[in-house]
Amino acid sequence: MSDKVYDVPSQWAQKAYVDDAHYQSMYAASVNDPNAFWGEHGKRIDWFTPYTKVKNTSYDPGHVSIKWFEDGVTNVAYNCVDRHLETRGDQVAIIWEGDSPDESRKITYRELSSEVNKLANVLRNRGVEKGDRVTIYLPMIPEAAFAMLACARLGAIHSIVFGGFSPDSLGGRIADCGSKVVITADEGLRGGRKVPLKANVDAAVNQIEGGVDHVIVVRRTGGKVDMVPGRDVYYDEAAAMVTDECPAEPMNAEDPLFILYTSGSTGKPKGVLHTTGGYLVYASMTHQYVFDYHPGDIYWCTADVGWVTGHSYIVYGPLANGATTLMFEGIPNYPSMSRFWDVIDKHQVSIFYTAPTAIRSLMQAGEEPVKKTSRASLRLLGSVGEPINPEAWEWYYRVVGEERCPIVDTWWQTETGGILITPLPGATKLKPGSATRPFFGVQPEVVDAAGQVLDGACEGNLVIADSWPGQMRTVYGDHERFEQTYFATYPGKYFTGDGCRRDADGFYWITGRVDDVINVSGHRMGTAEVESALVAHPKVSEAAVVGFPHDIKGQGIYAYVTLMDGVEPTEELRKELVAWVRREIGPIASPDLIQFAPGLPKTRSGKIMRRILRKIAEDQFESLGDTSTLADPGVVEDLISNRQNKR
Ligand code: WTA
Repeated sequence: MSDKVYDVPSQWAQKAYVDDAHYQSMYAASVNDPNAFWGEHGKRIDWFTPYTKVKNTSYDPGHVSIKWFEDGVTNVAYNCVDRHLETRGDQVAIIWEGDSPDESRKITYRELSSEVNKLANVLRNRGVEKGDRVTIYLPMIPEAAFAMLACARLGAIHSIVFGGFSPDSLGGRIADCGSKVVITADEGLRGGRKVPLKANVDAAVNQIEGGVDHVIVVRRTGGKVDMVPGRDVYYDEAAAMVTDECPAEPMNAEDPLFILYTSGSTGKPKGVLHTTGGYLVYASMTHQYVFDYHPGDIYWCTADVGWVTGHSYIVYGPLANGATTLMFEGIPNYPSMSRFWDVIDKHQVSIFYTAPTAIRSLMQAGEEPVKKTSRASLRLLGSVGEPINPEAWEWYYRVVGEERCPIVDTWWQTETGGILITPLPGATKLKPGSATRPFFGVQPEVVDAAGQVLDGACEGNLVIADSWPGQMRTVYGDHERFEQTYFATYPGKYFTGDGCRRDADGFYWITGRVDDVINVSGHRMGTAEVESALVAHPKVSEAAVVGFPHDIKGQGIYAYVTLMDGVEPTEELRKELVAWVRREIGPIASPDLIQFAPGLPKTRSGKIMRRILRKIAEDQFESLGDTSTLADPGVVEDLISNRQNKR
């Protein structure tokens, strides 16, 4: 925790869209009369049929229902592309920077229009219609944005699966939403290494009953892949057969736009469903105000489109605003530790949005790789995905931004569609490590375990008292799970799963997940998912997974594993189990540490006491709490003495 405060620089207060007084009055208006506030701001996008209703939402247990602008008709691709053609057709929409510094490409709004329409026609020719699901498993190439917008144009619902997920995970997600079409690439390219995307799709589709009807393969590396006749087609060959004109399907505001799978504390990942109107209004409005986006800015968000940050703040928010958005295929340390800063200089980036884990890993290389670049174009920095520790914040502020650029530490979730708690650079003083104050229309509350709403400075669980337009609408195909997961813990409120502190200024400090979700390098991972992968191994009898503090990743994955009788705990088996989890879920789920434990701490009724396992993984042996209720208190001694060391 840090008690430093950085005041809003006066030129920011003057030039930004809102200063503090503005923020206060707009915020008050947004919560006092949401219908009037959003009724006005909903007009920021173009509607084919204007809405007459604004907010129609209920958090009542058993009847949770969220609708915004419900009788309006629009199309997301129309708003992100067509409506800009007249005024900025020749402006660059997407700057693509390849994995190798020798490769980049600029795509104007006019070219974007042509590319999106062609891809939409390729899908349409394969029978894709409004409401159909399309799975996208692509690297960070422009076709990923074209594919998203092509789906939106037709009214098809896209489900993007991050390229770091295994064939098993991909197959589960294709099957869950019933996609009949998959868009992929021959191979991905990251840090000079190839990722076998098409081969993964083949393996994924092979496990699905009935398979899929079409696999569209973008050539990225030109690597050799197997093509199944009748099912698979190269995108360039299919695109050569179609025109670049395709009408935008009129979509109701509440028609689905996309599904994005995310990990929760129990069960398999859930398909978070976002819809059309409210999502786009919220993504574009937050993009404008939080980043103080002005025409002429070059905006770069380093996320992957496989995560929600890429959806809202690489593609939909910026393009709805007619911005120039940079899309980066590579990684921060390839070919050198200066890559981010080199790209900023090369393309004159003015707004830069990244994750604390990237900052921490670059910090390790010292200031030199940063200082040898100019970064004079930068005016604003952003952070997302996990709590940013004050040391990383200060380094980002001082070394990267040269004390010239405010940092917006933006708290939000896949479920929230857009940023909920964040500074506004012209309005909010900054405190390193605090996401500060709610965005317009967002009503955070801090509650204790019993659901009592706490006042003033306090610490507890973070809930949101009422709906905002970007909120998820349901879990795809399982509304009951939506209600149970988010509205049952504190009836009548949306439960975020995060803990937080509110200070005397009313600023929020997110302390991290309070459920069994861990945040590894800004990626959400359910401990239950890793556990079920581990117990699926024939030599494992039981497994418990918790997070532990990790210098770079924020949290690492710590697995306690009990082996089947007679199985020897060897170094080799440890490696085998790591490889197993990578294969089952994907490289992002690799356990950092595996401890072989003859027994796990359990209550007499057989429940694993995860609290104790967490404390041991955190090296907090003194604060284990009461262990006398354990069925066998002796296991704790053994667990402590065999604690695995951090790498
Ligand atoms: C965490 C990513 C602290 C939080 C947009 C949340 C953060 C989870 C911040 C959602 C932040 C995200 N400060 N914690 N600025 N941003 N988180 O769904 O625990 O991938 O619940 O969405 O990330 O992760 P998700």
